[in-house]
Amino acid sequence: MTDPVLTDPGQRSAREVFQQLRKHMQPGLALAARISGGGAVESSANGARITLSDGQSLLDFGSYAVTLLGHRHAAVVAAVRDQLDRMTVSSRVLANPATAAAAAALVEYLGGALPRTYFGLNGSDVVEAAVKLARLASNRNRVLAVVGGFHGKTMGALALTHNARYKAGLMPLLPAVTHIAPDDPDAVAREIATGDVAAVVFEPIQGENGVWPLSGDILAKWAGDARRNGVFVIADEIQTGLSRAGEPALAIAAGLPVNAVLVGKALGGGVMPVSALVCDDELYAPLLADPMIHTATFAGNPLACAAASAALDAIDRLTERGREIAATMAFGLAELQRQYGDLVVDVRGQGLLWGLQLASAKLTNEILTTLVKTGLIVSPCMSRPEVLRLLPPLVATDAELAAGLELVDAALNQAATSAAFIASA
Ligand SMILES: Cc1ncc(COP(=O)(O)O)c(C=O)c1O
Repeated sequence: MTDPVLTDPGQRSAREVFQQLRKHMQPGLALAARISGGGAVESSANGARITLSDGQSLLDFGSYAVTLLGHRHAAVVAAVRDQLDRMTVSSRVLANPATAAAAAALVEYLGGALPRTYFGLNGSDVVEAAVKLARLASNRNRVLAVVGGFHGKTMGALALTHNARYKAGLMPLLPAVTHIAPDDPDAVAREIATGDVAAVVFEPIQGENGVWPLSGDILAKWAGDARRNGVFVIADEIQTGLSRAGEPALAIAAGLPVNAVLVGKALGGGVMPVSALVCDDELYAPLLADPMIHTATFAGNPLACAAASAALDAIDRLTERGREIAATMAFGLAELQRQYGDLVVDVRGQGLLWGLQLASAKLTNEILTTLVKTGLIVSPCMSRPEVLRLLPPLVATDAELAAGLELVDAALNQAATSAAFIASA
C-alpha cells in the first residue's frame, strides 16, 4: 500500500522541512515541532488561525505574545506593503519619515510623558540599550533586577534574566547585576545604600515566570526610593505592554515614576520584528550627547517602523474589544479552575495575558501537547514549566474564544478522566 504521507506533496515537503531542521538547525526543536504538528508544518496564517501543511486549522492563543493583532492584520499588512513599494531599509545617513512617524506614534500611545525612542528588533536589544544608557547616564554600574524576571538571552539581557538554566556555563555575565526579592519592599533602598546602583529593571507582571504579578505597593516603594536617589526606573513591558495586559503600559497606568518603558513583541503588529525603548531625556542623555554611542544596522528600519505605526493605531481601535475579551477569559478560566480544582492550581492574569498553573510540569506538558493536537496553540513559560500561557489575539471572535476555552476544558477533562482511571486501577 502507498504511504499517504509520501504521496501528498504538502506532507512530502513537510518531511523535507524536518530533515533540513534536523540537519542544519536544532534537532531537539525539530523533534518537538514534529510531534506537536503530527508531522505537518506551518503553511499560512490569518487572524487567530494557523493552517498547517496537512490542511489542519489551529487557533493561535500563543506565539509568545507576538500576535496581539492576530496574524497578518489587514491594516498592518497594507502599511508594510505600501512601505515595501517605497523603501525598506534606510541609508541611515538621511532621515526617513517612517522611522520618525513610528517614534512619534509610540510616544503618543504611551501618553506623551516619555518623549524619546530607540528602536531595536528584539526585546533583548532594548534591554541592552536601556542598561547601557543607564550606566552611561548615571556613571554607575550596578543594575537591580528581580528574582524570577525574564529579560532575554543575549549576554547583557541574560545577566538580568534570573533563571539559572539559561546562564549555565556562561558565567561571568555582566557582573554588576543584583537580583532582589519581589516581596521585599526595602530591597531597592538597601541596595542603593551599598552603592553604585544605576537602575532598577522589572516586569510589572513576570510573563515567562508564569504570569506572576509583582505587588503594586512594592513597585511604588522601589520606584520612589530609586527616583529619590537618582537611580533610573525601567519597566520591561516587552510582554505586558501595548495593551496585552489591558493598558498601554502597566507601570504608567499605575502612576509609577518610570524613566523608561520597554516594548516589543506586539509592536510589529505580528508582521515585523521591532522593539523600542521609550524614555525621558535624562536616561537618553548619552544619545543626545553622542548619537553614535549606541547604534545597530537595522534599528528603526522603515519597514518595521511602518508596521509599528499601523499596529499602534489598530491596537488603539480595539481597546474596547480587549476589555470584552479580558472579561470572557477571566470568567471562562475561573470556571475551569472551579471545575478541575485538582488539576488547576491557579489562574492568573489580566487583559489578554493569562496563566493557567497546573498541578505539575508533567501535566502541563501533556495538556500543551493535547491542545496542539486538538487545535489550540498556547505558549509554555520559559521559567515556570507548570504554567501554560493563554494569549488570545484582540481579533479573536466570540466563537473563537469559546472554541479555545472548550478545547482547554476538553484537555483538562481528558487528563482528569485518565488520572481517575489510574487512581482506580
Ligand atoms: C519581559 C520580557 N523582556 C524581554 C524579553 C526578550 O525578548 P526577545 O526574546 O524578543 O529578545 C522577553 C521575551 O519573552 C520578555 O518577555
